[in-house]
Amino acid sequence: MTAPTTANTTSPTDPSLSARALASWSTNAAYWDATITAHGNKYWRRLQEPCLSRLLASVLSQPNCRALDLATGNGLCARWMVRQGTQDVLATDGSDEMLELARGHCEAAGMVGGVRFRRVDVASREDLRALREEEGRFDVVLMNMAAMDVAELGPLAEGLARGGLLAKGGVYVRLVLSLWTLVLNLVQVCCHGVASCVLHVRGVAKHRPQVRPCHGRPCG
Ligand SMILES: C[S@@+](CC[C@H](N)C(=O)[O-])C[C@H]1O[C@@H](n2cnc3c(N)ncnc32)[C@H](O)[C@@H]1O
Repeated sequence: MTAPTTANTTSPTDPSLSARALASWSTNAAYWDATITAHGNKYWRRLQEPCLSRLLASVLSQPNCRALDLATGNGLCARWMVRQGTQDVLATDGSDEMLELARGHCEAAGMVGGVRFRRVDVASREDLRALREEEGRFDVVLMNMAAMDVAELGPLAEGLARGGLLAKGGVYVRLVLSLWTLVLNLVQVCCHGVASCVLHVRGVAKHRPQVRPCHGRPCG
């Protein structure tokens, strides 16, 4: 009798899972772009942008702020970060098709100088290592609405750890909106040297814009 095959099973660390997920994003890039549009959908306008503004606007307006947008999609957040004041944004995505769309929107918005582009698979230790070596460290690292799409987050956690992509006092913001529970979860991790702090923001979506971020406890 032939042993059952495991060829169709996947684990979170299966490298092909990440490749297949990215291939799916590339296939659907134009659809995503048409749905989200260059200016964002209602979730962006009503929930995400107001929260990111509270968390990041003051950092992004600092002189010489360096910002990294992970999984940029059509570059929505990269352009938003330029509008907040930073002139040095690196927009990255694992999908070349997404990066092309982002580049086109940035050119149309006259942001050619302020945003650079680079292909980075955040599930790839190699990509993250090369990013750190070639681009240095960042004051802001943002991953908006993408953590749930990434096959494995371990490499990114390692990449952000001490000596990694975050500059001293830098801030990492990862935003995930759970449509099932209508709860917005934000996690902001600030790494500076050995110290780190974690901030959780949670609130029912319809109240979200009025809820202030708070440290270490749920609010809203
Ligand atoms: C839901 S879209 C979010 C795009 C953008 N951050 C926004 O807020 O509009 C998810 C993005 O994650 C990217 N992505 C998925 N897996 C990735 C990976 N392993 N590395 C880098 N980007 C990835 C996709 O290509 C897609 O552009």
